[in-house]
Amino acid sequence: MRIILLGAPGAGKGTLATAIKAKLGVLHISTGDLLREELKNKTPLGLEAKKFIEAGTLVPDSLVIQLIENKLAASDIVKGYMLDGFPRNKAQAEALDAMMTKRQQPVDIALYLEASLPVVLQRLTGRRVCRACGAVFHLTNMPPRQAGVCDACGGELYQRTDDNEETIKKRMDVFLDTTRPMIEYYRAQNKLVTVNADQESTEVVKAALKLFS
Ligand code: AP5
Repeated sequence: MRIILLGAPGAGKGTLATAIKAKLGVLHISTGDLLREELKNKTPLGLEAKKFIEAGTLVPDSLVIQLIENKLAASDIVKGYMLDGFPRNKAQAEALDAMMTKRQQPVDIALYLEASLPVVLQRLTGRRVCRACGAVFHLTNMPPRQAGVCDACGGELYQRTDDNEETIKKRMDVFLDTTRPMIEYYRAQNKLVTVNADQESTEVVKAALKLFS
């Protein structure tokens, strides 16, 4: 199965991706995670991306497309793939189509997690992420058993630098102006499926997994 996950910041793309990966065994590629890894390793790409991530704006297409091309070239996508946070505009969607046509692995489904603004604000301000394994928690929706400690590996939980109210607002503006209109690109290809992402996580996962059974 070849999937792309679309949705506003905090809609739950990463959370759903973990569940789909466990069920289907497909490769999960998140451009946000890849960029944060580059930043952590202080690579030239990571250092260039830093100012865009911290401002809540899109990293330039040329950098992100190159990142995805490199990742795909180094990955086994025979069982499929799931892209999370890519594409985010029409230029990226067209670049992805070109890449996947060349590999004869076109996108099967564009899954749009539709969430409302108050819901995503609450989710992003309460999100905590494990510094060691990347597992995602929420202070009230999905709290860890012990405050500040990852249930999965015991690592330290932290708050992403772009999860502050000012940057969240900018990220939402970018989503509404640039990414949401791109959804039409997939509707026109008859690949778009919308899931109500305001629901509890277990309901979102149930609705999404039904699509793949
Ligand atoms: P990225 O890391 O992709 O961030 P995002 O799109 O803003 O999405 P998030 O990771 O914030 O949210 P999510 O939908 O994965 O939600 P999650 O599952 O964690 O991008 C960061 C930056 O990198 C961008 O701003 C940009 O600068 C750059 N970038 C990345 N890709 C790019 C691209 N293609 N082009 C250019 N620039 C790019 O859930 C959120 C919280 O809610 C968690 O705490 C979770 O526990 C909780 N939760 C999730 N689902 C539910 C539910 N159903 N009910 C209750 N709580 C829930």
